[in-house]
Amino acid sequence: ELDRKVDSVLNIMTLKEKIGQMNQYSGFRDFTGPVSKTSDAASKTQDIRDGLVGSMLNVRGVENVRAVQKIAVEETRLGIPLIFGFDVIHGYQTMAPIPLAEAASWDLEAIQNSSRLAAKEAAAAGLNWTFAPMVDISRDARWGRVMEGAGEDPYLGSRIATARVNGFQGNDLSDRFTIAACAKHFAAYGFSEAGREYNTVDIGNSTLYNVVLPPFKAAVDAGARTFMSSFNDLNGIPASANEFLFRDILKNQWGFEGFVVSDWASIKEMINHHYAPDDEAAARLSVNAGIDMDMESYVYMNHLEQLVEEGKVPVTIIDDAVKRILKVKFELGLFDDPYKYCDEVIEKQVINSEEMKAGALDMALKSIVLLKNENEMLPLKRGRKIAVLGDLAMDKNSVLGNWRIGAIENTAISLKEGFANYTENEVVFERGPVFVDQKAEFTQELVYNKTDTTGTAAALKAAENADAVIVMLGEHGLQSGEARSRTDLGLPGLQQEFLEQIHAVNPNIVLVLTNGRPLALPWPKKNIPAIVEAWQLGSQSGHAIAQVLHGDYNPSGKLPMTFPVDVGQVPIYYNHKNTGRPDGYNEGTVFYSHYQDAPNEPLWPFGFGLSYTTFEYDNVQVDHNYSQNQKVVVTARISNTGDLAGTEIVQLYIQDEFATTIRPVKELKGFEKVTLQPGESRQVSFELTSDQLGFFNNQGDWILENGAFKVWIGGSSQATLEARFTLEQ
Ligand code: IFM
Repeated sequence: ELDRKVDSVLNIMTLKEKIGQMNQYSGFRDFTGPVSKTSDAASKTQDIRDGLVGSMLNVRGVENVRAVQKIAVEETRLGIPLIFGFDVIHGYQTMAPIPLAEAASWDLEAIQNSSRLAAKEAAAAGLNWTFAPMVDISRDARWGRVMEGAGEDPYLGSRIATARVNGFQGNDLSDRFTIAACAKHFAAYGFSEAGREYNTVDIGNSTLYNVVLPPFKAAVDAGARTFMSSFNDLNGIPASANEFLFRDILKNQWGFEGFVVSDWASIKEMINHHYAPDDEAAARLSVNAGIDMDMESYVYMNHLEQLVEEGKVPVTIIDDAVKRILKVKFELGLFDDPYKYCDEVIEKQVINSEEMKAGALDMALKSIVLLKNENEMLPLKRGRKIAVLGDLAMDKNSVLGNWRIGAIENTAISLKEGFANYTENEVVFERGPVFVDQKAEFTQELVYNKTDTTGTAAALKAAENADAVIVMLGEHGLQSGEARSRTDLGLPGLQQEFLEQIHAVNPNIVLVLTNGRPLALPWPKKNIPAIVEAWQLGSQSGHAIAQVLHGDYNPSGKLPMTFPVDVGQVPIYYNHKNTGRPDGYNEGTVFYSHYQDAPNEPLWPFGFGLSYTTFEYDNVQVDHNYSQNQKVVVTARISNTGDLAGTEIVQLYIQDEFATTIRPVKELKGFEKVTLQPGESRQVSFELTSDQLGFFNNQGDWILENGAFKVWIGGSSQATLEARFTLEQ
């Protein structure tokens, strides 16, 4: 039925109109890529009128969307509606925590709900398509876009990809409040060399099949309607012309039926890659590789017609691309009512509503990770004198994180506000030194080290007079994200110096970190008694942190990415392979795999996070060995051995001990969130099937091999409670 409807439109389209559907322009206000010098608002509007545009990005708000849709619907020959895309990455106007922070919750239900709310708010603003989820696995904290993903692990990443797609799209794409999702960036963008943005990617098949591709496959299985190609080349072939990725894997092998959009100008940029000699070649290579829509390269609209006429691009490829695009428009209900998402009353009701705020707060609470808590620093005791310090603690903007184009500047609850409204303690607030020019625009480089130290003396005085000092330090919200690579993973600017100054006058410090990527903080880890990872938690940040510091919410987050001791260890990740000369090899000699000046161990491992209570694990058991089509059930007992109720994310890891291609030392294959009262114990159990026990060989085939497996259950990737079983088919 849907195919028939799509064909009925396709059959009356001219070649030019078909190519128009494959062309996407950015709107005239927000830019999320380099602005083309050759196209202005007037010419873009005229192109819409001429039926040469199928989609717009960066047009938002009911009034704007309706005005642009009206041109497409009322002034073009066929009146085909536009689809409106936008980067709804962690909220539209109400900001939830950045995706890396949400991933730290390991709470699939909460993440799905957060994406559902983001979709609802975006749909209320006239939008029907988000460029999310970003499902790029990355092991490199230098890369600024790790803030936008789910971290380093393909299993956790796949589960979260599914949750996000389900959240955005719901069960029914034609619902008024669901929008189309876009799994991006296909593929391997998170492996940009040296963490430098847009850089080359050269990785082997083992990593490609086992680490990079699984979250994308999960997104397809969850029904993601669109995919985006990545900026990078993969082993010498730019993703935007990569037939292997888009035709062989995505469309043929995985049976993806939605459409693929390029990233911003990534088709044209293949000239800079020295892959396509000119615009015409770029258009030909991309469309033949399976990129259905051109975002802001202008090369499809300028060259495809001629390429088809010359027989260099088969018209069947154009028809296939257009069918895919029209199909999603039908599924969204845009053909029934092109103004379906355009209702000012709903826009007013939904955006920034109490429902949105409550969702953002819930997600923020679940995303916080307690990294260290000694000397009974936390929860804060009542009736004490507290100094809250730090420029970022006063900031209402930074914690919105990056990718918040729809947010209103300075609308987050700062730590200062959250704390002031919450605490019953006597509290003083001091800004201290200002380390970053917070007026810097979204599109500009930030001035990292512009330090104004006028406030330092007052802050130190407040610290000296307090029983406990809370200091918020880290990265400004715009120091991570696209094109925000760093070579130093310490606290930017003079923040560490400030921390040391405070420590000298009062060591009773709670360091609240705000950051969009793992940081290397050996001095704070050694010297500061309490450390709370508060990422960039979005609009409700200050409320969430205040609740956690006061113990009214017991933190349960776990790191989705390894924190290094030193940037020189990067890429550092828990699921690495063993070398021929691992730690402890040939003890007493220097000839093993290590550094002279740093440990191999991370600062904090993947999966790590504390609670205000304590948990213990014992009694791990495997019910039997694995033979064909069976399930192995692994169980263990977890007990809350502390004085408070708490929630633990119980994790299960395996190692396939010997295989025809080496398997990682540990691989996450299951997790469960468990809440226990003080003294309570519970049996947790995980099922392992061939889905968890197999792997991809270097030819990309899924295989299951006989042999021994180790299995661990515990509270981080360093879990030690171990059992074994064998697999025999
Ligand atoms: O969705 C983004 C992408 O992730 C990076 N380049 C621009 C796109 C649209 O804004």
